[in-house]
Amino acid sequence: MKTDISSRKDIDFLIKTFYDKLLQDDLLQHIFRQTILPDLEAHLKTIADFWDSILLDADIYRGNVTEKHIALDKKFTLSKNEFDRWLLLWKQTIDALFSGEKSEMAKFRAQSIADIMQYKIEYLRSNK
Ligand code: HEM
Repeated sequence: MKTDISSRKDIDFLIKTFYDKLLQDDLLQHIFRQTILPDLEAHLKTIADFWDSILLDADIYRGNVTEKHIALDKKFTLSKNEFDRWLLLWKQTIDALFSGEKSEMAKFRAQSIADIMQYKIEYLRSNK
């Protein structure tokens, strides 16, 4: 039986598995390969800090996730298809590895953060 996400070790494993998929995905890999590959370990730690703060109240993520993606959109023009693929892979990875309340929260929060990011990106594009 699958267990829920309950430790930093679980989050590190989830992120590593998710990024293995992102870095092989036909639609998304070019974005990640052109940005994070030189310092993959540091990037994975930032992402794990982010989810550790959301799911396990670690309070260690100090960045601004929406601003990062607004900047990314200027370089790659992020599409709805790309966001949908990111979310699909995130949800599939969680469902393959874990099950429970935190796992549901991880999927739900990713969806709402992605919705806000896309809304802000669209707004900024149409108000240039
Ligand atoms: C199309 C969808 C997405 C793509 C292509 C994407 C790609 C990226 C890339 C390339 C970076 C590194 C940016 C840099 O360091 O300059 C990044 C950072 C990050 N992404 Fe995404 N991302 C997507 C959606 C999301 C979503 C929906 C979330 C959260 C639910 C998320 C969470 C993060 C976090 C926490 C960081 C680190 C930000 C920081 O350095 O403070 N991403 N993303």
